[in-house]
Amino acid sequence: MSFPKYFLWGGAIAAHQAEGAYLEDGKGISTCDVMHVGKGRIAEIMDAKALRANIEKPEGYFPEHKAVDFYHHYKEDIALFAEMGFKVFRTSISWARIFPNGDDAAPNERGLAFYDALFDECKKHGIEPLVTLSHWEMAVNLTTKYNGWASRELIPLFEHYTKTVFARYKDKVRYWLTFNEINMTFHVPFLGSGVIVDNPAEKEELCYRACHNQLVASALAVKACREILPDAKIGCMVASAIAYPYSCSPEDTWAKLDMERKNYCLTDVQARGYYPAWLKKYLAQENIKLDIGADDEKILRENTVDFVSFSYYSTSAVSTDPTVAGEKGTGNIFGGVKNPYLKSSEWGWQIDPLGLRVALNFLYDRYQKPLFVVENGLGARDNVEADGSVNDDYRIDYLREHIKAMKAAIEVDGVELWGYTTWGCIDIISASTGEMSKRYGFIYVDKDDDGNGTLKRSRKKSFAWYRDVIASNGDKL
Ligand code: BG6
Repeated sequence: MSFPKYFLWGGAIAAHQAEGAYLEDGKGISTCDVMHVGKGRIAEIMDAKALRANIEKPEGYFPEHKAVDFYHHYKEDIALFAEMGFKVFRTSISWARIFPNGDDAAPNERGLAFYDALFDECKKHGIEPLVTLSHWEMAVNLTTKYNGWASRELIPLFEHYTKTVFARYKDKVRYWLTFNEINMTFHVPFLGSGVIVDNPAEKEELCYRACHNQLVASALAVKACREILPDAKIGCMVASAIAYPYSCSPEDTWAKLDMERKNYCLTDVQARGYYPAWLKKYLAQENIKLDIGADDEKILRENTVDFVSFSYYSTSAVSTDPTVAGEKGTGNIFGGVKNPYLKSSEWGWQIDPLGLRVALNFLYDRYQKPLFVVENGLGARDNVEADGSVNDDYRIDYLREHIKAMKAAIEVDGVELWGYTTWGCIDIISASTGEMSKRYGFIYVDKDDDGNGTLKRSRKKSFAWYRDVIASNGDKL
């Protein structure tokens, strides 16, 4: 069994979790720059008062301000990716570096120049950039002024941004993604869409509105991409939400179906071009009003994506039995109950390599479009030995089993999979907790949860292992 010759092996990061330099070269404060470290950091920004306090009086530690200073280390880091043989490197453009307030008329030239240099560096090493247009951040001004994506006003602003970067990087970037994990808005509206929910009763409507506006913006980005970069490929991105029924009771199977369709309904629109029937009924029944523009239906229908990308970390189990439902334990954002057949990471995310094969088959059957796994990995605490080495066999084991699952999906099931970018190929700030100690990388970065450290980069044991995986095109695991 082997991967196709064109298979794109690589790694992934996001601008705000890696770059730092949060106010350098004209960048504006973004939504991620106002989030403290800690498990409650996402929930903390659910109300406007907390947000204002963090903008006006930024006290405490905000990990994204410096992150791992990729902004100044990118040459060294890309050289290390090249040493592993990366064929692709996924990162995002920070919208606030290009439009510091989100609604500025002209772009910030110094921000544009940074990504020019970054993509040139990738090219120098023969690495294809895979660029996410929006990965959980934007100028915080867009939240305070418009309540983020809850407002349609963001659609033309985003269109201006996307057209600017498409035109600028049209000779440098051939693979694009619109919104990272678009379904996350339902779970974490501020992180996903810059939306503040002051009244919990309005949460659902605000989330659906924000998602609708993002869907239209995503479709317009596809349209602009085809006009400006006709040879490029543009995809959507969803957080995999495969659920297992806890028991074989029909109710549990229904709960599984319901949970999955709620998480994939936005991808349904991006890949098929229209809202699923059940969702239209649901919105009407719940009296959820979207702000729909006259051309929205046409825009969605005519601008579906070229491929579907997704992140995969774990699966969930769902139960309608209240005694079982009390046993929470998957640790990830989707909730669900603990699956007794699976082991968990130190952060409680359940480890399920076969679930990746399930996800690949599920998405390929559902959309019949090429797939791209753009995030996968194990967040774990690493121990640096006296000689400086990090023996992360647990990470190698995790990745090996997931790569085997991809192999099976390609070879046995016939899934068309374009590539694989492991998450946090270099250690970065955790999105959910802001910690550094939740590490995913092949490259260790000397920095702790309080922001102390030299930022020195060093190769972990998994570095050489992944280099061999890529060199053998997935044969040597
Ligand atoms: C995905 C996000 O949900 O999971 C990433 O797209 C994030 O931004 C990743 O970092 C892993 O989550 P965490 O919380 O461990 O960083």
